Amino acid sequence: MPNLPNRTHLIDPVRELIDEHVIFMRALEDLVDVTRGIGGEQQAIDRPTLDALQELLDAVDEHLNVHFLKEEEVFFPAIERLFPSARVKFQFLHVDHDRLREAFELFIALVQSARHGRLEPTSFAELPRLATEMVRLFYYHIVAEDAVYLDVASQMLSTEESAALSGRMRLLEERLRERCDAVSIEGRVRM
Ligand SMILES: [Fe+2]
Ligand SMILES: [Fe+2]
Repeated sequence: MPNLPNRTHLIDPVRELIDEHVIFMRALEDLVDVTRGIGGEQQAIDRPTLDALQELLDAVDEHLNVHFLKEEEVFFPAIERLFPSARVKFQFLHVDHDRLREAFELFIALVQSARHGRLEPTSFAELPRLATEMVRLFYYHIVAEDAVYLDVASQMLSTEESAALSGRMRLLEERLRERCDAVSIEGRVRM
């Protein structure tokens, strides 16, 4: 496989973010598979499909909340400070994040409506369309990010800078996961 980048030389924060791209893309592709048969004359989604959708949505949601914030709050600002010329590229990446979040929120709202039997018959086909759209958006996003990360960050960060970035990303991730756990416990108590 000649086109795969050799990752063995990559510094930790870059490798971590690129590995997360692979996990997130897999979850989005699974979402396309699960929604493939939905649409047309369909008036409801069966329970096993709804459960499978929910599991995938939880995985995607976690990625959006953790990976995107690690980039937005730690990685992007650090690279922008070190390489001001990369700022324009990062502005595009922020826009991609917003688009993906919007598409995902719409997808969740549609699934919630379907779960409660309130989805308009004409809206079922929106689910496979949105899933495919998210894969498309994310594909171009990670192509751009991988290029920036590989070209800039992996070559030019010192060991100390890398270690500091990894540490801050880990702290942020722990904080976000604690918050997510608290919200899901709260949700379970309310049910
Ligand atoms: Fe990313
Ligand atoms: Fe990103």
